[in-house]
Amino acid sequence: MTADFRPNVNFEYRFSRDIKENDVESTKMISLVMKFAEIENYNFPHIESILLYPVERAGKSGSQVFYLDLYVKKVEYPRRYVAKFQDITKTEKELSSARDAAFAQICPKPCAAYDEINNLGILVYNLAKIHNHREFRGFFLDLTKSDQDCASALKAIFQQVGRHPNNKEDRIPFLNDYRRYIDRRSAPLNRLNSFANSSSEYNGIADLAISINKHYERIASMLDKNNVSVFPYLVHGDLHARNLMLNDGDPTQTELIDFGWTHYGHPAKDFILMEITLKYMLLHELLPKISRPESIGLHMPLMAFEQFEQFLCTNGLELPEVVEFEKHIEGIDGLYEHHHIGLRRVYISLIEVRKAALNVLNEYCTHHDPESGLSPNQHFFISHFLVALGLSGFSEVEPIWTLVGLHTVGNSIC
Ligand SMILES: Nc1ncnc2c1ncn2[C@@H]1O[C@H](COP(=O)(O)OP(=O)(O)O)[C@@H](O)[C@H]1O
Ligand SMILES: [Mg+2]
Repeated sequence: MTADFRPNVNFEYRFSRDIKENDVESTKMISLVMKFAEIENYNFPHIESILLYPVERAGKSGSQVFYLDLYVKKVEYPRRYVAKFQDITKTEKELSSARDAAFAQICPKPCAAYDEINNLGILVYNLAKIHNHREFRGFFLDLTKSDQDCASALKAIFQQVGRHPNNKEDRIPFLNDYRRYIDRRSAPLNRLNSFANSSSEYNGIADLAISINKHYERIASMLDKNNVSVFPYLVHGDLHARNLMLNDGDPTQTELIDFGWTHYGHPAKDFILMEITLKYMLLHELLPKISRPESIGLHMPLMAFEQFEQFLCTNGLELPEVVEFEKHIEGIDGLYEHHHIGLRRVYISLIEVRKAALNVLNEYCTHHDPESGLSPNQHFFISHFLVALGLSGFSEVEPIWTLVGLHTVGNSIC
């Protein structure tokens, strides 16, 4: 490396309205970007300048995320990366799990640098794989995109998921593997208990919460009594609609981002997280976007949602074709055209999610879990229950639908 190596780093972002504070913040980050540039200069000598600008939505987990464009001499266009700034512990943790993912070739090789004094780390991923990229969430909520294209994106990404069993990791008691979802800061079990103890004003909710609690106790003691353990698979761990990117012009080109939750555990999780996102988050966001006559309310009757969930439970991992689903919902009272359109979009996506889950769980049960005697459907619904329980305190999920879902799924697990 030459002694005069000093690319120009620019942030198209203000960290604070106060100029001095802004300079302090950006100086910390620039010194980390310089460390990254030194590492990358080995691959691409003659780095001239680096430009950072914020992504549409910065990370929710307290991280700051920027697109990073790196320019070299004699080339007009940049090489693109994403840079994530967060504290050192989080950076180290994400680096380590991203390395596992990169080894399995489900993510590009990450690069990190640290500033111990200010407790700040940078994690950089290259963005070479997908052009014209967009979050799956925005794509799904964009009604100019077809239902089939949404499903194709899921089909594409799920070909990469659940492919990496690893018997060099220890088996984990089933419930322990789901602790990372259940034992959250949002304390879903406590929340459930307070619903269960709530006054008679909320009778319906209290009843639901009591029944869900009972399901939880029953499932936990069944898993415990039978010593059910998990054969570890590499899982992304946080596969929701904002951590899946696709090419806006070709939704079969997909890629995962955000490897902070990647670990070895039960392979059903990744499918279930996406299913929960579709049912309890995206459907709720989608309905108001679908046009409807002014005289008709937006609201979907809870009974109808329960019947939708019931249909999904009854049919398990082998969901019928969409025409059969349409016939079924025609018979549900209180649903209007906009509900049908929304439910249909979600359902077409769920078909792909469950098809892919069935493939993986069939393999899982046959080769890696002949002892427990649980079927692929049971693995799926028990995992669904536990993950949904963990997410039930999140502000992004529709709270009542999530409770109805937990109740219905819990009922279906005998
Ligand atoms: N590799 C990437 N490619 C494109 N966009 C990305 C990438 N990584 C992050 N982003 C954008 O930044 C947002 C937040 O990044 P993410 O790594 O998911 O942070 P958090 O851990 O806070 O959720 C994402 O939702 C996405 O819009
Ligand atoms: Mg994320």
